[in-house]
Amino acid sequence: MLERIKSTVSFIQDKTNFHPEVGIILGTGLGGLVKEIKIEHSLDYDNIPDFPVSTVEGHHGRLIFGELGGKKIVAMQGRFHFYEGYPLEMVTFPVRILKFLGIKTLFVSNASGGVNPDYEIGDLMIQNDHINLIPNPLIGKHIPEFGARFPDMSEPYDKILIEKAKKITEKNNIKVQVGCYVATTGPTFETPKEYQYFRIVGGDTVGMSTVPEVIVARQMGIPCFAISIITDLGVPGKIVQVTHEEVQKVAAKAETKMTLIMKELISQL
Ligand code: HPA
Repeated sequence: MLERIKSTVSFIQDKTNFHPEVGIILGTGLGGLVKEIKIEHSLDYDNIPDFPVSTVEGHHGRLIFGELGGKKIVAMQGRFHFYEGYPLEMVTFPVRILKFLGIKTLFVSNASGGVNPDYEIGDLMIQNDHINLIPNPLIGKHIPEFGARFPDMSEPYDKILIEKAKKITEKNNIKVQVGCYVATTGPTFETPKEYQYFRIVGGDTVGMSTVPEVIVARQMGIPCFAISIITDLGVPGKIVQVTHEEVQKVAAKAETKMTLIMKELISQL
């Protein structure tokens, strides 16, 4: 694994000679951020040795290197999910690559279903915790170069970044929630009782991504910031049929707000 990572990283460095300090996973809602990046290089996933290739509609596959908010960034346009059938080691392989390319902070976005009855469709939620119900991506042989065998998870999301993001939303009059994201495998959306269960155990939203990447990043000591768009509600009385298309449609509407928060936050690093 370590050898594969090192050879993929040296391939990327040979191609780009670029040293990013910030990593971004452009999940749902952050597609528009690409337009804000002064792109210097981009590499298609299928041209990068050992990189997985995305299979989900609405997720492209390339690594973008450039400048955003005055910082050198690398952005993953297209991410990988457990429900696509990849082992978690593959889902999180790109995060290892970003670390070995030199990133010091990781930014992530996603779409999720709100289970907190105070939430509304279209709200943004800054993640301050998560509950992982996907198998843990660190199960398997321990590689000491990555970090601890039993990594601390007392601060999965960086408190300073959360405070800064809250100030940015206040200043720009953007409504924002702060809460706990429950990660589930998908690909089914939840039954009414499953939504209720996720609420009872302490969740505010539920989604199918982000947490494997954050766990791997935290093992390697990278501070993380994640933001979620509430695209549907798993709240009794408000549950309606959910489709991937509807999720994408609601997320697209929140794109401008999400882009502003991320760009501003990155410029304040
Ligand atoms: N459940 C799980 N994942 C999701 C949802 C949901 O309701 N909405 C968007 N992603």
